[in-house]
Amino acid sequence: MTIRPLIILPDPMLRQVSKPIERIDADLRKLSDDMLATMYDAPGIGLAAIQIGIPIRMLVIDLAKEGETPDPHVFLNPDILARGDGVNVHEEGCLSIPEYYAEVERPATVTASYLDLDGKQRQITADGLMATCLQHEIDHLNGVLFIDHISKLKRDMVVRRFKKAAREKDKAPGRMAG
Ligand code: NI
Repeated sequence: MTIRPLIILPDPMLRQVSKPIERIDADLRKLSDDMLATMYDAPGIGLAAIQIGIPIRMLVIDLAKEGETPDPHVFLNPDILARGDGVNVHEEGCLSIPEYYAEVERPATVTASYLDLDGKQRQITADGLMATCLQHEIDHLNGVLFIDHISKLKRDMVVRRFKKAAREKDKAPGRMAG
């Protein structure tokens, strides 16, 4: 398993729409292992392939808390089939927008179809954190970020901050800190 570098805002790759997976093979399984390793290392509870620069419709989620047995889930070509009427507000963050958190309102329950790593068609009806996380990650596959669900004022502020940080990093290429 390899920990891969994360794509960070404002990298335009994050706005790309990921392509459906057509073949499940050893490379794809290896990639799912790398995604899980990268997510655990961060640490985070969800990761879409595009966040490590690979524009395919795959995501991983593990909601187990620290000290609990890991509970990894891999979703291929996930698709939201239905959204419940109620809404949930969760404070969300994103490994591609480090150290920024905001409350996001989303449907409280969702039903999604997906393929597992054996190519089996599956369905999940999720609520609570799983519903939020699934929607957040499926958004990534469509080039949508959680900051798209907050006010434009707040979003512009975050984007400006990350653009400035990226510029400053570019300006000092020879610099390093241990
Ligand atoms: Ni995210």
